[in-house]
Amino acid sequence: MEVIILPDAVDVGRFAAAKVAAIVARKPSAVIGLATGSSPRGIYADLRRRVDAREISFSRARGFALDEYVGIPLDHPESYASVIAREVVEPLGFDPANVRVPDGRAADLDVAAAEFEAAIAAAGGVDLQILGIGANGHLGFNEPTSSFASRTRIKTLAQLTRQDNARFFDSLDDVPTHCMTQGLGTILDAREVVLVAQGPAKADAIAAAVEGPLSAFVPASALQLHAHATVVVDEESAANLT
Ligand code: F6R
Repeated sequence: MEVIILPDAVDVGRFAAAKVAAIVARKPSAVIGLATGSSPRGIYADLRRRVDAREISFSRARGFALDEYVGIPLDHPESYASVIAREVVEPLGFDPANVRVPDGRAADLDVAAAEFEAAIAAAGGVDLQILGIGANGHLGFNEPTSSFASRTRIKTLAQLTRQDNARFFDSLDDVPTHCMTQGLGTILDAREVVLVAQGPAKADAIAAAVEGPLSAFVPASALQLHAHATVVVDEESAANLT
């Protein structure tokens, strides 16, 4: 695992965006694993700048989102289908047909999860997975105690995750209780992963993931098993690294 510590959040976004840009430049049909939330916004902003400057194009790139809430209406502004469309597909110019988000509204969620896994495999696997990290060390929505071998499936959101994500909703009660998330095994199958974190709220999780023991209680520690994992953090998120 390579750990890159940079002065601030803007630098973090730029550094990680350069990795995405390099892969798409080399392979225009690259498969990118897409995270939502606050952490990757700097990446998407810097990629937008590169698209506008015609340095790169995502017109042939393919994307798979990490996760989705279960039961949330598709057109809810905070469904990850909406967020991915608004923050990634439209600004970066992905073909919407080439981007898939787990289907948290499917009649049979287990079948939908298996189909999502099959779609990743049919695409040839993920070339580069973008990741954030939860304050509790979650990766995707693989909450503490998730199996390192897990695949896409339904999970119950931890109370801390619901509280953290309540800022995107009108109230805590509006935050869904369940999600469909790529498993840790799914994430580890990506050929390369880049995790970004900014701010003091992630400092404990980053230290535990990077320097702590491999533990299902810290799902992001699974990245220690990955041959091409880069953790890009600002000085605040790096504060508890030795
Ligand atoms: C998002 C995801 C989550 C977030 C994590 C951090 O698709 O899977 O693991 O990356 O909860 O969220 P932010 O970036 O909002 O702090």
